[in-house]
Amino acid sequence: MALFEKKKSETQLAPPRHIAIIMDGNGRWAKNRGLPRTAGHAAGAETFRRIANHCRALGVKYLTVYAFSTENWKRSEEEVGGIMKLLKNYLLEAMRDMEKNRVRFCFFGDLTRLSPELQELCAQASSASAEYDVQVNFCLNYGGRDEIVRAAKAFAEKAAAGECSPEDLTEERFSEYMYSAGVPDPELVIRPSGELRLSNFLLWQSAYSEYVFMDVLWPDFSPADLDKAILEYHRRNRRFGGV
Ligand code: FPP
Repeated sequence: MALFEKKKSETQLAPPRHIAIIMDGNGRWAKNRGLPRTAGHAAGAETFRRIANHCRALGVKYLTVYAFSTENWKRSEEEVGGIMKLLKNYLLEAMRDMEKNRVRFCFFGDLTRLSPELQELCAQASSASAEYDVQVNFCLNYGGRDEIVRAAKAFAEKAAAGECSPEDLTEERFSEYMYSAGVPDPELVIRPSGELRLSNFLLWQSAYSEYVFMDVLWPDFSPADLDKAILEYHRRNRRFGGV
């Protein structure tokens, strides 16, 4: 009985407001099955749908996913094209179901390198969903260092134009120059697939995030795995540099 009570109270813990995920392991998942890497990404896109629904059911307000990094252009044309096609299909579907799902779509990254068609879809999805308050942030052609350099340039340009002064720069003000302006920092960052690195993901925003690394490939990542990561997050003692 005591065990049951503990479990019940654990599942009632409030979810983090913002969860960020590095959707890693699609390639290995496909290789293990003798399939092309694009099949792994297709399975990864399905996992994203399941996990996004689960986040919403749990009451998570912001979900940020690393869908394509500034470094992912090094991959074959076929693989890059496959990921872009999955994104396009997903956004078309999201536009169709917009009123039913009521999810706000935002994009972190330099979208100008995407095809004009995909850029247009991203613009349409974000403007059509701007009023909704459960938010999914897709990191597309995104790099944490690139984001910080762009923010520094934007601030420096304003300062050079006399619109602000270097002395006025604070961490809060600098955050306003990031793609994530207005979005609270993620409390929890999850990386499946067994890799133990950040891979240039949300470097500024994750300064005090709790990282949970899991030994499951993204296409196999289940709602139960998300629950486990949230439980692990609640077991952490967050001190933010204090004692
Ligand atoms: C990393 O795994 C994954 C990516 C670079 C792409 C992620 C993209 C998707 C899941 C599809 C996006 C579409 C939607 C709708 C979200 P990896 O390829 O590096 O895996 P590996 O380390 O096993 O090779």
